[in-house]
Amino acid sequence: MADKKARLTVDGIEEAIELPVYSGTEGPDVIDVRPLTGKGLFTYDPGFVSTAACESKITYIDGEKGILLHGGYPIEQLADNSDYLEVCYLLLNGELPNAEEKEQFSNIVKKHTMVHEQMSHFFNGFRRDAHPMAIMVACVGALSAFYHDSLDINDAHHREVCAFRLIAKMPTLAAMCYKYSIGQPFMYPRNDLGYAENFLHMMFGTPCEEYKPSPVLARAMDRIFLLHADHEQNASTSTVRLAGSSGANPFACISSGIAALWGPAHGGANEAVLNMLEQIGDEDKIPEFIERAKDPEDPFRLMGFGHRVYRNFDPRAKVMKATCDQVLAELGVDDEPLLRIAKRLEQIALEDPYFVERKLYPNVDFYSGIILKAIGIPTSMFTVIFALSRTPGWISHWNEFHSSPNRIGRPRQLYTGPQKRDYPA
Ligand code: CMC
Repeated sequence: MADKKARLTVDGIEEAIELPVYSGTEGPDVIDVRPLTGKGLFTYDPGFVSTAACESKITYIDGEKGILLHGGYPIEQLADNSDYLEVCYLLLNGELPNAEEKEQFSNIVKKHTMVHEQMSHFFNGFRRDAHPMAIMVACVGALSAFYHDSLDINDAHHREVCAFRLIAKMPTLAAMCYKYSIGQPFMYPRNDLGYAENFLHMMFGTPCEEYKPSPVLARAMDRIFLLHADHEQNASTSTVRLAGSSGANPFACISSGIAALWGPAHGGANEAVLNMLEQIGDEDKIPEFIERAKDPEDPFRLMGFGHRVYRNFDPRAKVMKATCDQVLAELGVDDEPLLRIAKRLEQIALEDPYFVERKLYPNVDFYSGIILKAIGIPTSMFTVIFALSRTPGWISHWNEFHSSPNRIGRPRQLYTGPQKRDYPA
């Protein structure tokens, strides 16, 4: 596998250390640093900026060129020609389904959309104002208490059943969080509807009144799901892989991914974008917030701008922006004050040298927050929708981890604490 070698000379070690260099199918070569341990050395890379933690075949990102591929297919092409469930299949299986496989997959997902009736009692333990992400972390972890029949992580069929269950039940649980917060009855899933339509039905329907989403809104919802479906080794996916490396059950692992996603630097950004727009409140105040974002002494950052990997543009943001325009036109709300602030902010930040020099572009969450707000989804649900969307990515990476020889994840450290000393006599 290694056709090249790197040689590292270290002060105090006589011979150069030879390290194998591997080439992937795309992207930069990686240096295998494992021989360093035998020489008493570790590498140091806080934030994993330069570290490939695994080998993976699922998703490829070229941040410099703004490229995102799932199974080799560009995200723009998938967004235009495919749908969320098809992308779920692609992530799980590595290939697009044919028509029969697609129908079969969609039918299996539909057969798993209900959650155990006892799950509904869990909700009563939460205050009505509980953050829905807190409920999701708990309820998804709790699924492991119900599905003992599919918890053998070494059985490929068990892993597959868990994938179906998670992809199918996440919208149901997400919508239950919302219904609980507003005191409305939970809506059972409807298997005659498409995945996104069914989610909108469970969110906005009531037993007294059917909700009929417009095709534009259902398509926009599906696109939000699709564009967030996977993003290789981001913080939450790496968390799922790390939790999975200990042999923890898949529901516990996905729950840990949801917890990691919650933070505002990751999936919490879409909620933070809307909170920030509300905080700005008026177009005249934008320059003040731009100055704050540029001030190194001020922790304030422009939410929805910047990305660890994309240094050119976020290809998902381009598609999301187009969808955003369609949704706003469909709903006739493009003149809403917060949306006006968002558009003006985007324009100013894209021209400001601070943001241009640092290549800080609007990311996917800048536009997804605006679309979700326009659809009528409350801000606190935004990150839940990200979690729902990212589930096939998490479960595909978890499955990939368990499908080949693996070891528990166990990073090392640069210790700078006190040296060994004796307990005071
Ligand atoms: N507003 C103002 N300045 C920023 C921002 C921002 N949103 N993002 C980065 N910077 C500055 C940062 O201060 C630094 O400046 P300097 O070089 O002068 O010290 C420079 O840009 C590089 O930033 P960094 O902190 O080294 O970048 P990072 O790769 O560690 O962080 C990030 C990436 C996404 C956490 C960060 O850009 C950020 O906090 N953005 C806002 C939150 C956000 O929108 N997150 C969603 C990411 S997309 C969804 C997902 O996949 O999770």
